[in-house]
Amino acid sequence: MKMRLELFLVLTAVISAAGKPLSKAAAGNKLLLISFDGFRWDYDQDVDTPNLDQLAVDGVKAKYITPPMLTMTSPSHFTTITGRWVEDHEVVHNMMFNTKTNLKVPHKQTLTRSEWWDNGVLPLWITAQNQGLKTASFHFPGGGANYSGQAVNRVKVEAFNPDDNETEWQQNIDTVMNWFSKEDFNLVTLYYGEPDRVGHAKGPDHPDRKTIIRQIDRTIGYLREAIDLHNLTDSLNVIITSDHGMTTIKKRPQVDEIILNKYLNLIKLASFEILDYGGFGILTPRPGREQEVFEALSNAPNLTVYKKNQIPESFHLAKSERLPPIVVVADLGFNLNSRFIVYVNKGDHGFHNGEMDMKTIFRAFGPAFRRNFLSEPFDSVHIYPLMCKLLHIDPAPHNGSLSVTEEMLLLHGGGSRRASVSVTLMLLMMLMFAAL
Ligand SMILES: *[C@@H]1O[C@H](CO)[C@@H](O)[C@H](O)[C@H]1NC(C)=O
Ligand SMILES: *[C@@H]1O[C@H](CO)[C@@H](O)[C@H](O)[C@H]1NC(C)=O
Ligand SMILES: *[C@@H]1O[C@H](CO)[C@@H](O)[C@H](O)[C@H]1NC(C)=O
Ligand SMILES: *[C@@H]1O[C@H](CO)[C@@H](O)[C@H](O)[C@H]1NC(C)=O
Ligand SMILES: *[C@@H]1O[C@H](CO)[C@@H](O)[C@H](O)[C@H]1NC(C)=O
Ligand SMILES: [Zn+2]
Repeated sequence: MKMRLELFLVLTAVISAAGKPLSKAAAGNKLLLISFDGFRWDYDQDVDTPNLDQLAVDGVKAKYITPPMLTMTSPSHFTTITGRWVEDHEVVHNMMFNTKTNLKVPHKQTLTRSEWWDNGVLPLWITAQNQGLKTASFHFPGGGANYSGQAVNRVKVEAFNPDDNETEWQQNIDTVMNWFSKEDFNLVTLYYGEPDRVGHAKGPDHPDRKTIIRQIDRTIGYLREAIDLHNLTDSLNVIITSDHGMTTIKKRPQVDEIILNKYLNLIKLASFEILDYGGFGILTPRPGREQEVFEALSNAPNLTVYKKNQIPESFHLAKSERLPPIVVVADLGFNLNSRFIVYVNKGDHGFHNGEMDMKTIFRAFGPAFRRNFLSEPFDSVHIYPLMCKLLHIDPAPHNGSLSVTEEMLLLHGGGSRRASVSVTLMLLMMLMFAAL
């Protein structure tokens, strides 16, 4: 009888102890999404990256992931945070533009122009907030806009300061960790402008690119220490990804650089254009000149021209209302110069998302993720339903599929931890009966 009472007490203790981590696990829906702009999928393969290597052991690594067509910062980030193709979310360029007024707003100014971002598709921040979660955006593209009149709970918009200050990178992590640990934020998206800037300025093969990858690796080490210091190890899941890769721009005398004005008189034939912007170009032909523009560009080498309504379905761009009638995608490494070669970038993106140089990274770790799990490649559009699952929220309509990524998770249906608790309880019950 005494034995039985003792066992009863043990049992009660086990139930209450098991109850706590269980409810904490359910409430511990914290997610940090980090993007390092322009981190090509293989940038860690020719540099010593101990922290990224350790991440692969402690969590999930995808061989690479494929960004949407429009391998450009704002379009691709917005696909990640909405789970929608570019033709649906309509953020079709880094620059806000209007083909009728010829307005072109530079990228950084576009970040706070709600009319560019808010096209009826709700990003994850807003969907999460509508289901009771607290969210924040630290420099993440799209975070600075309002959606149907709603702002993200806390926003820092990218300023005009240098992208590569390591002290600031660490301070940004401290800030975000405090949001999670002291203010109980559930979702924070954190953006860094590197290694994109170095990739453009110096090219992906320059030693400075390796230097910035080492800095990113140290920052990931700093992040992991900060997570421990803030006691977030058991409650915070982290996804590290990016928007596109980077390729070396081909220059004279290696190639004949493209000068589009050689093939069509731009002033005469087009009323609007965005060219001289890497591998992706758009044009609005003057009335009645559409066929002429299309044919002239069809004869130009080292590029592919599309009438908008004939864009391949796999690009998921054709339904866009914003894209002008003519879209040009240069062959890998060619810049679409308009009239003169004023273009200084040594590296760029915007090319076909099937090119390996446009592929990017995906890493994840935290209590919900398996360890030492190497995922096959997948499209970045599938990150969205994974994030909803991690936050325990209902996704908005989207183009991703959880079945692509859920293999990375420890608890597929969320039942395994409960199952192991029940097994413990059953064993104790059996012990109790044996003791009677
Ligand atoms: C978002 O809405 C708030 C409140 O109406 C307003 O103060 C703010 O300027 C808006 N921000 C943007 C980027 O439109
Ligand atoms: C980096 O940022 C820190 C903190 O804002 C500042 O004190 C330092 O001067 C910056 N360093 C450079 C090289 O800009
Ligand atoms: C983390 O937990 C330790 C031990 O309970 C505590 O001393 C420390 O203040 C906590 N840190 C934060 C940032 O909450
Ligand atoms: C570019 O086009 C020219 C002319 O068609 C062709 O000879 C050349 O091989 C192309 N360059 C590349 C790198 O594809
Ligand atoms: C993407 O998702 C939206 C919303 O569910 C849907 O309307 C659209 O048809 C989807 N696009 C594709 C290509 O399936
Ligand atoms: Zn870029």
